Amino acid sequence: MALKSINPTTTNAWKSLKAHFETVKDVHMTKWFAQDKERANRMTVKWQDFYVDYSKNRMTAETKDLLLQLANEVDLKDAISKYFSGDPINETENRAVAHVALRDPIYADFFVNGENVMPEIRHVKKQIEDFTNEVVDGQRIGFTDKKFTDIVNIGIGGSDLGPAMVVEALQYYKNHLTTHFVSNVDGDHVNEVLKKLNPETTLFVIVSKTFTTQETLSNATTIREWFLKSGNREDVSKHFVAVSTNINKVKEFGIDEQNIFPMWDWVGGRFSLWSAVGLSISLSIGYEHFEKLLLGAHKMDEHFKHEEFDQNIPVILALLSVWYTNFFDEESEAVIPYSQYLNQFTTYLQQAIMESNGKSIDRSGNKVNYQTGSVIWGEPGTNSQHAFFQLIHQGTKLIPATFIGFGKSLYGNKEHHNKLMSNFIAQTEALLHGKSEVEVIEELQKQQISKDQIQRLLPFKKFDGNKPTTTILINQLTPESLGKLIALFEHKIFVEGVIWNIFSYDQFGVELGKQLANTILQEFDKENQITDHDASTTNILRYYKNLSL
Ligand code: F6P
Repeated sequence: MALKSINPTTTNAWKSLKAHFETVKDVHMTKWFAQDKERANRMTVKWQDFYVDYSKNRMTAETKDLLLQLANEVDLKDAISKYFSGDPINETENRAVAHVALRDPIYADFFVNGENVMPEIRHVKKQIEDFTNEVVDGQRIGFTDKKFTDIVNIGIGGSDLGPAMVVEALQYYKNHLTTHFVSNVDGDHVNEVLKKLNPETTLFVIVSKTFTTQETLSNATTIREWFLKSGNREDVSKHFVAVSTNINKVKEFGIDEQNIFPMWDWVGGRFSLWSAVGLSISLSIGYEHFEKLLLGAHKMDEHFKHEEFDQNIPVILALLSVWYTNFFDEESEAVIPYSQYLNQFTTYLQQAIMESNGKSIDRSGNKVNYQTGSVIWGEPGTNSQHAFFQLIHQGTKLIPATFIGFGKSLYGNKEHHNKLMSNFIAQTEALLHGKSEVEVIEELQKQQISKDQIQRLLPFKKFDGNKPTTTILINQLTPESLGKLIALFEHKIFVEGVIWNIFSYDQFGVELGKQLANTILQEFDKENQITDHDASTTNILRYYKNLSL
């Protein structure tokens, strides 16, 4: 069954939130902390190895109650039950959204279009496991009988970002294989990767759900040509495998049927790292670790599915985003992992969040009359403290930030980790409190600065504080905890989409540019005329055509 269509602005909760907002919008959070000694405890969820403190947000207990009421009025419970039942909630593409089924360790029946998809999931997972073990153990070898040393994932969007992020995040757990990613159709990208590789010892994994994506097919073709300078056509089958729903197209490309890892249209590209799209993850860290990643995600699925909303981490974080987006008119949100391993986490989230919820038509087909989507950005701390934190602290924009940190480092260097985590904690404290005039004066007096100069510097040195942050503190970065973290954001996206009454699982917005690029590509041809563009586009096209001669 389809998701209900309820305009959130017509709910009682929304109206109450509007009125309530006027009473809290200017209150400094420090006042609430002073009034309520239990605030931090009440606004913290401890779940397994996760500690989530959302008390440094511009909300009161009443705000939370009203947001929970909003979730109930849009019937979030019903939506969650449809999400986990294989209903075609991706209505505009008439598909289920069933990536959660991929990570169920007990393979409980899961029906999509009346068919139990579990036997097929189990089959493909076995295929991933066997293939991974054969490559890692050196039983599967290249065309000159050498063991593989390098893996290249060829894909883009969801067929690149998830695997690339996870492989980097879990590099501590990796085996002897080196994994590379080729995504951009920029020929310099593929050439830079190829120059590091030996064709005799490299395995190529072409990942494309549709197997029609220009970037991926161009890169795969270029790489196959490069390979054929060393190997023969028959050797291709030893070095190229593919992950796709489009088996015929993969075969046309010249890949053997037994080297195809199927996926399904009920797995969205940006939620596909749990499927065979994660093959390069499995190859890089081994199948057992890959399973742990899936298990972590499954544990978060269970939490999301069963936990009461007021203790439910994805629900709470989604409600906070709605609160800031629709009531504070927030423009963007930052995600700051205090782990260099999570360097690509925010990039990965950008596709997951912005391709999903960057929509302006509601589930009844009408233009929405409220804001949707969040602009997501961020970089690991502490690097980002030395880059853009100034704007978060003292700029004019309200930027809620999610801080992600770990209790223990992986190599056990306590001294470094304490320094890292002291910053992690200090930043949220500074963003909350700011720095008062009194504090600034005291500090400057100690430096024996003149009174006049103190007065002159005061406005610049003062911080208002009252900047919202949420802290996610996890025991340690492991395949399992990373699985939980990713699934947490996946479910947050879902909840936001339900509340904003949009379809989160299509991405028609990325199609137009692709179509126009095809037309323009033809026009680069010397013989072809430049036609039918606006004056600016025509000028740029002409200028480029001359440059590229
Ligand atoms: O950017 C659009 C998109 O369709 C993404 O949703 C998807 O992850 C990506 O292109 C790659 O698609 P495919 O896996 O079919 O090559």
